[in-house]
Amino acid sequence: MSDKTILLGQTLTFTGSPFETPWQDCVRIDSAGGVLIEGARIAAVGNGTALKAAHPQSRCISYGNDLIVPGFVDAHAHYPQTAMIASWGKRLIDWLNTYTFPEEARFADPAYAADIAARYLDLTRAHGTTTIASYSTIHPHSVDALFAAAQSRGQSVVAGKTCMDRNAPDDLRDTAQSAYDDSKALIARWQGKGRARYAITPRFSPTSTPEQLSALGALWAEHPDCLMQTHLSEQPDEIAWVRDLFPQARDYLDTYEAHGLLGARGLYGHAIHLEPREVDRLAEVRGALVHCPTSNSFIGSGQFDLPRMAARQIPIGLATDTGGGSSFSMLRTMAAAYEAAQHHGTALHAAQLLWLATAGSARTLHMEHEIGSLVKGNYADITILDLESTTPIAQRVNRSGSVWESTFATIMMGDDRAIRDTWIAGNSIKS
Ligand code: GUN
Ligand code: ZN
Repeated sequence: MSDKTILLGQTLTFTGSPFETPWQDCVRIDSAGGVLIEGARIAAVGNGTALKAAHPQSRCISYGNDLIVPGFVDAHAHYPQTAMIASWGKRLIDWLNTYTFPEEARFADPAYAADIAARYLDLTRAHGTTTIASYSTIHPHSVDALFAAAQSRGQSVVAGKTCMDRNAPDDLRDTAQSAYDDSKALIARWQGKGRARYAITPRFSPTSTPEQLSALGALWAEHPDCLMQTHLSEQPDEIAWVRDLFPQARDYLDTYEAHGLLGARGLYGHAIHLEPREVDRLAEVRGALVHCPTSNSFIGSGQFDLPRMAARQIPIGLATDTGGGSSFSMLRTMAAAYEAAQHHGTALHAAQLLWLATAGSARTLHMEHEIGSLVKGNYADITILDLESTTPIAQRVNRSGSVWESTFATIMMGDDRAIRDTWIAGNSIKS
């Protein structure tokens, strides 16, 4: 049997960012498209009939009018929060203390970490997500658990040991030195091994002393190929707390900048309540902002100003922020991003939403040459969207005048029932 497979259906391709160029000029849906997969990679994308004629020995899978899109890339999640997603009634700091920290303490048990890592990857793949950038817990083995689970599934994962040396329970605190040592050992074990990528991970400034931030800044300088992920300006109470904890800092971003934790490979989650100086610095260094819209609503944080940040050409990724976010679904997350932008007077097009959830997030992870778009050479990480997955969506599609209108209905109302299949490194999760 040939190692080649052709997926036939409607294909979504990008030639640029629909935030930099009108979407009509850089995003296309080919109603008779095809994707040729060879091994783990995409070998060609084009007209389905032409691909079949050129590769007659290939296995063909016809998805009819389904939309073939790049696998979703979730640029900020906390896999250890899988089992406590949708916990009621708290805002950020109380939510962390009441629900999050007790759950993260359970990860002292390596078997529990392995169980949740596997559960999380299986859940997210069923929702069409093929790459995740995730926090772990303070336990180094929680990072091993996620990378190992991803490795056995052939999947790309960005992860890092969450570092906290203050303002957290005793059993969830490390030190500046142990955070440095453990993170360094994990980088040696995982960074660049297969599809694993390491992100140095200070949780956020309130849970790290200046000494710990400095140690992690030094580690990043020693390993500039690594990513760095953290939280920034999520809620007003948190920002006031940061001001008390770091009286010398000009603003929240400065608590990272002053310790070597601001850079182009930095991922700053939430970033809702930024000062003008912070926006200017992020635009200057091209640090990436990660938009977590279901979380921002669920924990009552506010609405990220995506139109303003996109206008400054700051790289923006999209993320669930599981389990502050209330869904594992990047479709639901795109819908929330649409609603958040409406609060800022902008109606994002379906092409822009899909770009954020795929190529945009891939770009924030500096992985755009491997994932996030259907182009030759990228991994065959592909999601197949059924555009009529439920009765409410199908009756809307009956009225729709274009594939974009139908696609928007699935973005706004779809869930895991819309995921016909997910392909990871050339393998279908359904077969
Ligand atoms: N800030 C610090 N830690 C967290 C977390 O786990 N979730 C969210 N949403 N914000 C945070
Ligand atoms: Zn988070």
